[in-house]
Amino acid sequence: MGDIPAVGLSCWKASPGKVTEAVKVAVDAGYRHFNCAYFYHNEKEVGAGIRYKIKEGAVRREDLFIASKLWCTCHKKSLVKTACRRSLKALKLNYLDLYLIHWPMGFKPPHPEWIMSCSELSFCLSRPGVHDLPLDESDMVIPGDTDFLDTWEAMEDLVITGLVKNIGVSNFNHEQLERLLNKPGLRFKPVTNQIECHPYLTQKNLISFCQSRDVSVTAYRPLGGSCEGVDLIDDPVIQRIAKEHSKSPAQILIRFQIQRNVIVIPGSITPSHIKENIQVFDFELTQHDMDNILSLDRNLRLATFPITKNHKDYPFHIEY
Ligand SMILES: NC(=O)c1ccc[n+]([C@@H]2O[C@H](COP(=O)([O-])OP(=O)(O)OC[C@H]3O[C@@H](n4cnc5c(N)ncnc54)[C@H](OP(=O)(O)O)[C@@H]3O)[C@@H](O)[C@H]2O)c1
Repeated sequence: MGDIPAVGLSCWKASPGKVTEAVKVAVDAGYRHFNCAYFYHNEKEVGAGIRYKIKEGAVRREDLFIASKLWCTCHKKSLVKTACRRSLKALKLNYLDLYLIHWPMGFKPPHPEWIMSCSELSFCLSRPGVHDLPLDESDMVIPGDTDFLDTWEAMEDLVITGLVKNIGVSNFNHEQLERLLNKPGLRFKPVTNQIECHPYLTQKNLISFCQSRDVSVTAYRPLGGSCEGVDLIDDPVIQRIAKEHSKSPAQILIRFQIQRNVIVIPGSITPSHIKENIQVFDFELTQHDMDNILSLDRNLRLATFPITKNHKDYPFHIEY
């Protein structure tokens, strides 16, 4: 897994009012990895929590691993640096430890290029949420004319200029990742592919492909999220294994990923959950437990993106 801490706190859906406190609790609980994104619209508040803890002396910047993501409206090569700077500015950081292409699809940019190339102005106009999903009259997303191989070149430039230490991808399927890895003149490989992964969607084949090519995997939605009708935490198999180890179901779901060499980023704004979710290094699941958990797979994807299904790069066209 290289330098990426095995468990990170994810900040998706953490409302601005709560996420600063969640980050502070997490640092005290021992988290050093924070998973952010422009699209979560809370980078300013995440950054406030981080800065508070650094100022307090609880942690140093160099001890932290902070990730953010390039949103789909900024795939044009000329916009990548502006987008990265916008996240850095919101987080009030000088560099990111990891910057990911959030999805392989590029969308139509929100503003004319001259505005986007002016970092200060585009930051003022960015108003998260308003222009993130450009839709046509039928409410389908308007694609951009970019190719993620070109976007990747601008991502590589971010490493060279020192704005980010590592780059990676998210929601790439096998074919898309292979295309990137085979890109002629590739200067930096993606260090990770962040994908939805939990016992109902174990991603066995994609994980084995990534690991065979030395690309780590980061599991999002590891607890099954807060999706209506799906309650992974209440699954009887998970509950039974949890009882046997005197651990919580969430801890079993997190430990399951660690034992597959998969980095895992549970999301929480509840202090007791945040603390519980990192207490996963004092027990081990047996091979029998692992097999039982793997057998729960039903290829159930919770994180679909319906309005982009028209996009040529929508990653779930090709199920691996
Ligand atoms: N790359 C992508 O495209 C992408 C897409 C979706 C998500 N993600 C990332 O993945 C992260 C995780 O996704 P997620 O938040 O949907 O799913 P998750 O981490 O599987 O589940 C989060 C839910 O579980 C609850 N929870 C957390 N710890 C718990 C515990 N110990 N016991 C019981 N319930 C617990 C949380 O509630 P409380 O807050 O009350 O604890 C929250 O409702 C996100 O934060 C996001 O950054 C990435």
